[in-house]
Amino acid sequence: MLGRAVMARLQKESDCEVTGLCFSRKTDSLKILDLTCREALIAFLDEFKPDSIIHTAAIRKPDEFAQNVEKATALNVDATETLASWVAKNPSAHMSYISSDYVFDGKNPPYFPTSEINPVNAYGISKANGEVVCRKAAEERIAILRVPVLYGDVEELSESSVTSVFKEVLSRKKTVLDDWAIRYPTHVANVADVLVQISLRKIAGTHQWSGVEPFTKYDMAILVAYILKADTSLFVRSGEPANGSEIRPKDCHLDRSSLEALGVTTKDILLLDAAKKILSTTSR
Ligand SMILES: NC(=O)c1ccc[n+]([C@@H]2O[C@H](COP(=O)([O-])OP(=O)(O)OC[C@H]3O[C@@H](n4cnc5c(N)ncnc54)[C@H](OP(=O)(O)O)[C@@H]3O)[C@@H](O)[C@H]2O)c1
Repeated sequence: MLGRAVMARLQKESDCEVTGLCFSRKTDSLKILDLTCREALIAFLDEFKPDSIIHTAAIRKPDEFAQNVEKATALNVDATETLASWVAKNPSAHMSYISSDYVFDGKNPPYFPTSEINPVNAYGISKANGEVVCRKAAEERIAILRVPVLYGDVEELSESSVTSVFKEVLSRKKTVLDDWAIRYPTHVANVADVLVQISLRKIAGTHQWSGVEPFTKYDMAILVAYILKADTSLFVRSGEPANGSEIRPKDCHLDRSSLEALGVTTKDILLLDAAKKILSTTSR
């Protein structure tokens, strides 16, 4: 989802030669490469010799990660280490590694790039370990960008946890909605805009970007019901952490001022505007 937005944003940079990679979702414009195949990855990098790598691949659903820790770690940590080591050996190269607000425990927001990390689930630990291998390999030429829950122009509504709420409202069935965890839904077009600025300017170090609006999933459902003029009496609010799955942190609000201080900007896309567009254009 983020990779698609980065590719779309890079089309505006006429002096960049861009190669987009994929794994299971092949399109004509993308090259298949399994990042967990170390030799193939290094061979590709040695041939293409990128000035800049924007590393958006990961197993990013906490429950999916927990069900297949070994395979998911090979992508989230080991492949990240291979990329970071290649950057270390190639002094003109820069990389952006995408990390997550889930490196924090969500108990004491807002969080700064320097705040103490304390992931509460295996996925969060893998993203924190990805940060460690980046810093160890080439801290001075790698940007670590932490982001919160992402959404955008999805292929189907189930693609992001934000647009999955849209799908639940559209089902017009009685549905239990989390009113406990506070999220900051962030549009991938905004993150792509930030990433391209980081790449072109070769900014390094640990940074964060976040949307500006706090929402629980219940709040998101109310917003979508407002757009669709749907019946909100079917919504059952849950004030407890979700049961039966990986633990989620309560509120990981990320402070983004380190990038703003460097002049990195993007026009924040608000959830109401984006939701109207997504609901009118995405197949349900
Ligand atoms: N989505 C969120 O809410 C969220 C929140 C915080 C941080 N993040 C981070 O943001 C980044 C982007 O997330 P996203 O939402 O764009 O994830 P996504 O839509 O699930 O995309 C993950 C990508 O990883 C690729 N991939 C999977 N296995 C691979 C392999 N073995 N080799 C090469 N590529 C492989 C997939 O390719 P195919 O589709 O072709 O298989 C896919 O393009 C990730 O680092 C994630 O941890 C995401």
